[in-house]
Amino acid sequence: MFQFMTSTRIIFGEGALQSSLSVFNQFGYSVLLVSGQNMDRARPVIEYLKAQNMRYQHVAIAGEPNITMVEETALVGRKFKPDMVVAIGGGSVLDMGKALAAIIPNQGDVYDYVEVVGRSVPIKTKPLPFIAIPTTASSGAEVTKNAVLRSGQDQVKVSLRSPEMLADVAIVDPTLTYGTDRLTSGRGAMDTFTHLMEAYVCGDPNPLTDMVCEEGLRRLNRSLFAACLEDDYKARSDLSFAAMLGGMAITNAKLGAAHGLASALGGKLDAPHSVITARLAPHVMRENVVAAESQGRKDLLSRYQKMAAILSDDPKAAIEVGITWVENVLNRLELPQLRDFGVCATSFDTVVDDALKSVAIKGNPIPLTKERLMFILKQVCDCRGECETSSASVGLAESQLIHSSRPRVTTNTSKLNN
Ligand SMILES: [Fe+2]
Repeated sequence: MFQFMTSTRIIFGEGALQSSLSVFNQFGYSVLLVSGQNMDRARPVIEYLKAQNMRYQHVAIAGEPNITMVEETALVGRKFKPDMVVAIGGGSVLDMGKALAAIIPNQGDVYDYVEVVGRSVPIKTKPLPFIAIPTTASSGAEVTKNAVLRSGQDQVKVSLRSPEMLADVAIVDPTLTYGTDRLTSGRGAMDTFTHLMEAYVCGDPNPLTDMVCEEGLRRLNRSLFAACLEDDYKARSDLSFAAMLGGMAITNAKLGAAHGLASALGGKLDAPHSVITARLAPHVMRENVVAAESQGRKDLLSRYQKMAAILSDDPKAAIEVGITWVENVLNRLELPQLRDFGVCATSFDTVVDDALKSVAIKGNPIPLTKERLMFILKQVCDCRGECETSSASVGLAESQLIHSSRPRVTTNTSKLNN
């Protein structure tokens, strides 16, 4: 038995945004619009809202969202009383919009609902209608049922999660990703890879997520470099599709140790989620394969082999070929190393303890011991003592994060004044 859920409506394709802006009108006339600080890609949405004389409040965020940001912005949003939330941007922007759509109509604060560090109370009142418009091919947040938020006080990343939080409309227009710089493209693509990889080998896959993962890995493999290094438009479309498949996969299967460790490290390092998971991925794969071999898990080993076959276009490829593929891609895309963010200056003991409490790690196909997780961290750091000298970014307090990333809120109430 299995179930599969996704966003209510997906509109995919080049030019999808411009041709489907009228969907906003189905949900009312007042919009809480969430974007990143660079509003270039949000401009068609703003122009449409103005042309339609719709009432809107614009929240522009910088960086990844944290719980205090959501609480402060929800207070403003509750006064504004929007009919819907529209988020246009990368995964962080979509997560912020998704969290606001859920929190604004519900009583209490975020800690009542958030998992692991909060009370995990189920969302009672249905979230506001939510329209997700990704401008990067990365997290697939347009089709996931959770919003990842940093908890400053606990120094971990946790999720606000509910099937009710799936977007009402996901508008996936690959043209919005055209021209994205090489590093942002590369780390987004590798976030997609880690979603597809972890969901494919996780402890709870199903035939539909297997299909989704295999197709996602195939598209990612054939288009990764052309999209990220040459900005090839056809390849960009493949990557947007693969990112969406990655989101579908993790919503309906599970994750694993790369995301488990990332939820702990992400609250302690000022490093993008995508870089953390991508850099952890090959080490987690190797540990899982070693554990699978020692436990005679042929089913799991055959999944790793199939993944290697897809990534190398060689049906007989050895498992190690798949792991080497990841390492080569990381190097060619020049993703930063975690030692650049001072990973060694974190307490590996605390990181592993926090990771073991995460929801993601429970999806790992084989439980990894504390010692093996510590070993992964040592592998991923490999700094030979250089790391601790560059640890200025470690352990940022939430107040500092808020200070540097307080959302900018502007309100257009022309409709109210009419
Ligand atoms: Fe991820």
